[in-house]
Amino acid sequence: MPETPAKKAILMDCDTGVDDAVALLYLLADPDVDLVAVTTVFGNVGAATAARNTLSVLDVAGRTGEVPVAKGSERTLIGIEPELATDVHGGNGLGGVDLGEPAGALSPKSAPELIVDTVRRRPGEVHLLATGPFTNLAVALRLEPELPALVSGVTLMGGAAMAPGNITPAAEANVWHDPEAAHAVLCAPWPLTLVALDATMGEVMSEAQRLEMAASASPVAQFAARVLDHYFEFYRSIYGEKSCACHDVLAAAIAVGDIVPKRSMTVTATVDTGFGPSRGATVCDLRGMYKGELSQAGANCTVVLETAGDFSATVVERLIHGKRSAG
Ligand code: RIB
Ligand code: CA
Repeated sequence: MPETPAKKAILMDCDTGVDDAVALLYLLADPDVDLVAVTTVFGNVGAATAARNTLSVLDVAGRTGEVPVAKGSERTLIGIEPELATDVHGGNGLGGVDLGEPAGALSPKSAPELIVDTVRRRPGEVHLLATGPFTNLAVALRLEPELPALVSGVTLMGGAAMAPGNITPAAEANVWHDPEAAHAVLCAPWPLTLVALDATMGEVMSEAQRLEMAASASPVAQFAARVLDHYFEFYRSIYGEKSCACHDVLAAAIAVGDIVPKRSMTVTATVDTGFGPSRGATVCDLRGMYKGELSQAGANCTVVLETAGDFSATVVERLIHGKRSAG
């Protein structure tokens, strides 16, 4: 009898806003994924609101109390009080959808403590997925300098390699919110995948797909359709029609191996931590592209530049019907 493959152990650090919530639901609907913990950070909303939203998402998925949730940083690595992106995700981070008090309770640990403790308990097994500013990961690196050797890998949603930024012309939001943290995380010696706007802006969910989820019999898909409505309105100003980019759920799918990038390069990536107009810009050394060099010697950051562009259908299918186990 062939052995059932081990589940993929994912620790997700997020600023649970709308697309983080969709990414969480995508992972929770996969029986081959073991979501070992969720930690939250400021960004779309404050870290405490993101933690509350995460507990609510676990309730929607029928997983109350099954996944430890810890609140993290409300300030940046250098102690700056952040400007939150509530205009994009709605005042409560879930598009204004109010689920009332979540049923679950938070872990007494801080987010960086939960990250370090979880990874130390399962050395070499846990993959870190970060879909918010990278502050908690940067603090966790300070708590445990051996962290890069203890994780199985790290996937970050963030940055823009050749694409324009989204929160400023030069910077993507997760990096812009905490450039110092992003710099520390990108420079650490762990196996990194950076799912940049270059790829995520090419993965668009349509209003027809959102309405398909709204009309489905799945409470998970109906919830996703409700919280996405506000986000879709915001994206009218970007794509010219009601729709949205699938940022965080694309990063989640790449982290668990559901999606193989169409184009990526493994290069050195750093962040502009100055205080000029390009603060928070990701500087990826793509100069090898002209001679077809896809991997720079000694580099550890695989920047995802392009995916197939048809992933939203998979997200809709997963949220409506769930996923059968591969085992
Ligand atoms: O730039 C997009 C990213 O910023 C996404 O993770 C979104 O949720 C916000 O955190
Ligand atoms: Ca996010």
